[in-house]
Amino acid sequence: MKTTLTLAKADIGSIGGHIKPGARLMGVVSDYMKRHARPNVKDFYISHTGDDIAVLMTHTRGVGDTRVHRLVWDAFTAGAGDARKQGLYGAGQDLLKDAFSGNIKGLGPAVCEMEIDERPNEPFLMFAADKTDPGAYNLPLYLAFVDPMYNAGLILSPSMFKGFKFTIMDVSYTEGDRVIELNAPEQIYDIAALLRDNQRFVVESVHSRATGEVCAVVSTQRLHNIAGKYTGKDDPVMMVRVQGAFPATGEVLQPFKIGHFVAGFMRGSHTGPLMPVKANSTISWFDGPPVVSATAFCVHDGKLTEPADAFDHPLWDYVRNKVSRKAIEIREQGFSGCAMLGYDELEYGGIVKKMDELEKVFKIRGHKEQKTAFSSPKKRR
Ligand code: F6R
Ligand code: MG
Ligand code: MG
Repeated sequence: MKTTLTLAKADIGSIGGHIKPGARLMGVVSDYMKRHARPNVKDFYISHTGDDIAVLMTHTRGVGDTRVHRLVWDAFTAGAGDARKQGLYGAGQDLLKDAFSGNIKGLGPAVCEMEIDERPNEPFLMFAADKTDPGAYNLPLYLAFVDPMYNAGLILSPSMFKGFKFTIMDVSYTEGDRVIELNAPEQIYDIAALLRDNQRFVVESVHSRATGEVCAVVSTQRLHNIAGKYTGKDDPVMMVRVQGAFPATGEVLQPFKIGHFVAGFMRGSHTGPLMPVKANSTISWFDGPPVVSATAFCVHDGKLTEPADAFDHPLWDYVRNKVSRKAIEIREQGFSGCAMLGYDELEYGGIVKKMDELEKVFKIRGHKEQKTAFSSPKKRR
């Protein structure tokens, strides 16, 4: 049977800064979904990661369906209304457009979806990250689908011997979807050459080359491309089917033990290690660190099992301690060098103003006239 999994996530307001949405707001979104999900959506699950609410939906209407997208847009809008009433911080922050226009992509929320032929048992993982951008999933996907040091199935399971196809998007191109398809293992150097640049090239999906089936999908929306200026980090979502012809759950999770450095953290303008956290965790130190949750399900006839929290295990406490150490260490150097993002990725416009002011004070020795040294390539808030 064909089932579509649609996962959408938005920051529509939070308590005490950008920490968490709160029980009342979660309740409003959940109630809206309960009242309006039928007949278009079969099942749904709501959770939060940091300040973002994620809504996972199952249905049979295929990807990009207007009714399903409208449902979740309206649920977020209802939530944003209540967030305003409560006086929550950043109420409606990620709802960048006033009106729904057929597809929630391009309106602010992060979305990824896949239409699948349900296997007799269909396990999958839903990931939600906060205080970072979609490129945060590049390295874990590369390692889980390409590297036998992380995925033992690549050398042990014949169903994976043919490898995987990566579809990678150039998210700096705003005129349309600029994508490239590359095959692992033959083209892994090309894949690595692109995925090294997390801000520009983002894995959109991964397919099995043995069966042609979709295996992983990532939200590729970048908020500044939508708003025309920086409005926050994109806080991406991802879904990965696991087991059988796909990597095992543990193989997909394994790369997250690295706590690799990603863009985001305080004011979306820093570098910080990605910490695997339990579902419904909050944000804290230096508005971070960047976090990711992983929730496992099986789906059968479009119905979800109860969730299993994949990062709720003693091993991940050890990893979290390691990542805390990495976070504190990089923060030791404050604004200096790689601890902060490059000029193009800084989230706040204040720096542009500052540079423009300093620009006027610069002098080139021995010259009266000078060319402009700094430019402001993108509008910022
Ligand atoms: C990052 C984030 C926070 C805010 C910071 C300042 O995505 O949400 O780090 O950037 O707390 O927030 P404002 O500018 O809303 O006062
Ligand atoms: Mg926020
Ligand atoms: Mg967020």
